[in-house]
Amino acid sequence: MNIGITGASGVIGRHLSDLALRRGHEVIAFSRNPKRVIPGCEMRPFTTEAAPAVEGCDALVHLAGESVLGVWTAAKKRRIAESRVEGTRRLAEAVAKMKRPPEVLVSASAIGIYKEGGDLPLLEDAALGEGFLAQTGKSWEHEALEAKADRVVLLRTGIVLAKQGGALPLIASAFRLGLGGRLGPGTQWMSWIHLDDLARLILFCIENRDLRGPVNGTAPWPVRNAEFTRELAARLHRPAVLPVPAFALRWLGEFSNELLGSKRVLPGVATEHGFPFRFPELTGTLADLL
Ligand SMILES: NC(=O)c1ccc[n+]([C@@H]2O[C@H](COP(=O)([O-])OP(=O)(O)OC[C@H]3O[C@@H](n4cnc5c(N)ncnc54)[C@H](OP(=O)(O)O)[C@@H]3O)[C@@H](O)[C@H]2O)c1
Repeated sequence: MNIGITGASGVIGRHLSDLALRRGHEVIAFSRNPKRVIPGCEMRPFTTEAAPAVEGCDALVHLAGESVLGVWTAAKKRRIAESRVEGTRRLAEAVAKMKRPPEVLVSASAIGIYKEGGDLPLLEDAALGEGFLAQTGKSWEHEALEAKADRVVLLRTGIVLAKQGGALPLIASAFRLGLGGRLGPGTQWMSWIHLDDLARLILFCIENRDLRGPVNGTAPWPVRNAEFTRELAARLHRPAVLPVPAFALRWLGEFSNELLGSKRVLPGVATEHGFPFRFPELTGTLADLL
């Protein structure tokens, strides 16, 4: 297939492009900087101002957007919301103009869309939340559903654990400096996924014609923050003695709510359709990545 990927230069996009190429697909990578080289990919421009040239794509994967990691200032929140909502609208406009629409659009979303659930398992039909990330996620998914693709998959991804970027290298650096510790009470659930499983799940969503609507992109065994902290400390042979109190995270703005909130998200649809996770539990994942 010809697979068009926005945000192909990001952590998930690079791994996905690589995997897709190795499986014999062609990859068209959309970027704000189309002069950038992503090995093996045809490059095309992608901006929030104009509909991108998506003609010829059999499948689209939409990953582009401002990172949610970091301090949520008013300007950062605006960039997060605008890049996602406007970017998705432009993509849907481009799809509407295609002579032959793509078979599927897999559009990134996040588990931040769910309402906090404490210890309750959250499947794809769980209640949605009201905070900034949940509201942004709802608008973002709404725009994706407007696309006239035969199928639209809304991939609600958890914390992606990767060597190359995202949250894990940041957390591991703190632990290596002896600054690692559970966040707040540590009882909150963390729903994570190994980068390789996520990239394989995206291709599974493209190839499996039964899949449409929300699909949770999380591993089958989420953990509490205290357990994540213990596992990581053991893997890095560092103590995890410094719990980070909830108030100390408040400088991150509303982003701290995402770190302290509890979301025990399970991959209901992926499991039901027999997706074979290579890294279903945390110990093996950290052993592979660190
Ligand atoms: N990583 C995670 O833990 C995680 C969890 C849940 C959901 N997700 C979602 O999955 C998607 C991909 O994640 P990722 O970790 O691969 O992201 P990433 O590494 O931050 O890359 C995203 C790509 O989006 C483009 N981009 C960045 N800022 C932008 C902006 N302000 N406006 C328009 N485009 C922008 C960039 O591509 P160019 O510079 O080439 O244009 C960038 O390479 C994101 O939408 C993210 O929200 C990720």
